[in-house]
Amino acid sequence: MTASGTPRTVLVTGAGRGIGEATARRFADAGYLVGAYDLEPCAWAESDDRIVTGALDVTDPGAWEAALAELTSRSGGALDVLVNNAGLLYGTPFMDASFEKDSALVDVNVKGVLYGCRAAFPFLRKASTPTVVNLCSASAIYGQAEMATYSATKFAVRGITEALDLEWAPHGIRVCSVWPLYVGTGMLEGVDTAGMRTMGVRLTEGDVAGEVLDLAEQTRRRPTGMVGRIRSALGREVHRPVGAQATAMYLASQVAPGRLVKLSNRRLTS
Ligand SMILES: NC(=O)c1ccc[n+]([C@@H]2O[C@H](COP(=O)([O-])OP(=O)(O)OC[C@H]3O[C@@H](n4cnc5c(N)ncnc54)[C@H](O)[C@@H]3O)[C@@H](O)[C@H]2O)c1
Repeated sequence: MTASGTPRTVLVTGAGRGIGEATARRFADAGYLVGAYDLEPCAWAESDDRIVTGALDVTDPGAWEAALAELTSRSGGALDVLVNNAGLLYGTPFMDASFEKDSALVDVNVKGVLYGCRAAFPFLRKASTPTVVNLCSASAIYGQAEMATYSATKFAVRGITEALDLEWAPHGIRVCSVWPLYVGTGMLEGVDTAGMRTMGVRLTEGDVAGEVLDLAEQTRRRPTGMVGRIRSALGREVHRPVGAQATAMYLASQVAPGRLVKLSNRRLTS
């Protein structure tokens, strides 16, 4: 609950299945009022009175405005958490795809995040500890073979996250992202890249949902103890890798020379 007695409110896009559904359920269990949106209303949420569901195509600015107006009419006009989760992937050699597929991925994965941040800003400003969590990916560490367009969109999500985290800090809005490697959802159906075969699918949607909720709750926690005070002085993390593999890859990319990172990625994806 917020100080004014309204429930803390979260909007999750792409909540019809996979990571989005798991995230919406996790926030509902934690006591949030949840807006679960997808291209169609989420059938799984229709009988749950903790959840508002409706249609929101993230590439449509008008749909964003309508969904935010509907959800925040129940929360005194504030939005505590925005989870930009909706996404598309194709995992094939680059030349086996098409102009249309490139366009669709950029529309949903990049424009969808930009439009969501822009539309949600006035509502986030009204919350006491607002957080935006963007679904990025380990493919934003180094461009992934057979996932060039997808990697490009997730590098863009990385950039949006870093830029807005700086720009919106004076407004008290934290912008951060999660970076899973392969997660066993419908998104990977029919995908068979060399990288996926080498590294395997080791994460569940619940693993990612737990990190998204933790990031939102971390924004609210007051730092305690020496470690908390040091963390607070350094600023909270912006990107959170999910799982041991993504964490190792992320940390290695922070310290290893670029040529070494390229070499290790070539070995993992061929
Ligand atoms: N599955 C993975 O391996 C993995 C790894 C890293 C990051 N991610 C990211 O996590 C997010 C969720 O992925 P997932 O695995 O749950 O995928 P998923 O395919 O299971 O679910 C994606 C959801 O997004 C919705 N969606 C697609 N286009 C939309 C649009 N225009 N407007 C609104 N909703 C739309 C779909 O209807 C679907 O319900 C994505 O951003 C994805 O890139 C996934």
